[in-house]
Amino acid sequence: MEKILSGKPLAKLIQSKIKFLIAQEGIQPKMLLIQVGEDPASSYYVQNIINIGNKLGCEVLYNQYPANFTPEDLLTVLDYANTDPSINGIMLQKPLPPSFDELKIAESINPQKDIDCLHPINLGHIILEKDGLVPCTPLAVIYILRYYKIEVEGKHIVIIGRSSIVGKPLANMFLWKKPYANATVTVCHSRTKNLKDITCSADILIAALGKPSFVKEEMIKPESVLIDVGINQITDKDGNQIYVGDIDYNSCFDKVNAITPVPGGIGSVTTSLLFLNLLKACFTARHINKSIDDFLNYILFE
Ligand SMILES: NC(=O)c1ccc[n+]([C@@H]2O[C@H](COP(=O)([O-])OP(=O)(O)OC[C@H]3O[C@@H](n4cnc5c(N)ncnc54)[C@H](OP(=O)(O)O)[C@@H]3O)[C@@H](O)[C@H]2O)c1
Repeated sequence: MEKILSGKPLAKLIQSKIKFLIAQEGIQPKMLLIQVGEDPASSYYVQNIINIGNKLGCEVLYNQYPANFTPEDLLTVLDYANTDPSINGIMLQKPLPPSFDELKIAESINPQKDIDCLHPINLGHIILEKDGLVPCTPLAVIYILRYYKIEVEGKHIVIIGRSSIVGKPLANMFLWKKPYANATVTVCHSRTKNLKDITCSADILIAALGKPSFVKEEMIKPESVLIDVGINQITDKDGNQIYVGDIDYNSCFDKVNAITPVPGGIGSVTTSLLFLNLLKACFTARHINKSIDDFLNYILFE
């Protein structure tokens, strides 16, 4: 088993397979990418999405609206995009201004174009193990474990974090009756008591809490696998802005069998999978049915 679970070769593989499928079908999947305001971190992600889209042969229509854009204005844009047959997927860049009711906005996205998996229908399908669009970050965790041939079935997986976009859907995906899942899952959060006792029992520990270098060496089981979902910008001792994960990589490294780096781990896979969701939505609109498993098997094993 590789010790450093880099996301980069996997991201490259996913992108090359998507590019091939797009060329083979002679299509140009189209994403509407919406940003409200000018959050600098968001602008960085947006540029990355546009660059990858261009590389893969997708069209990314980028609409940036000023910070004083109202929720009603956004709902009008979504109404239009929901019914425009040329748009296959809608990606709403977070964060939205605080006055926006995120659930109401999520409910206003056409579930078949909901490539970031915000709509309650798509999140509900995950619990029911029904095929559909799934959130890219949890899917990236599944892909990276599968890519590096890390056995998940029967393992105790502990997830720190219960957000609707990472922790909760990921916990449910690990419960799927699939060869890459079938795990026993514990989800922890800010009110969890004796967190260390629980994390020390994890065969696979997933940190998704948004606290820089939170998971220390004494919180992990020897020879376990660590997956770091966190991306936190901090100032290092020389005054430079750097990104670190939720796991203290250096203190944990020697004790574990495998660990994802930050940057260059889950994050690099996530953006590639956004385009897999776009392709899936585009295929569905054309009545081409390819399941999550069809794509996973094609990308990783064919
Ligand atoms: N790599 C990627 O593609 C990607 C994508 C999305 C997010 N992220 C990163 O992943 C991290 C989590 O994102 P998110 O959106 O899921 O965050 P979030 O919505 O802020 O949720 C954080 C979760 O962590 C829990 N938590 C916070 N402090 C804790 C503590 N001290 N002990 C135990 N649990 C604690 C919270 O518990 P409560 O529910 O009790 O408050 C909450 O459930 C962030 O660093 C984010 O930047 C990365």
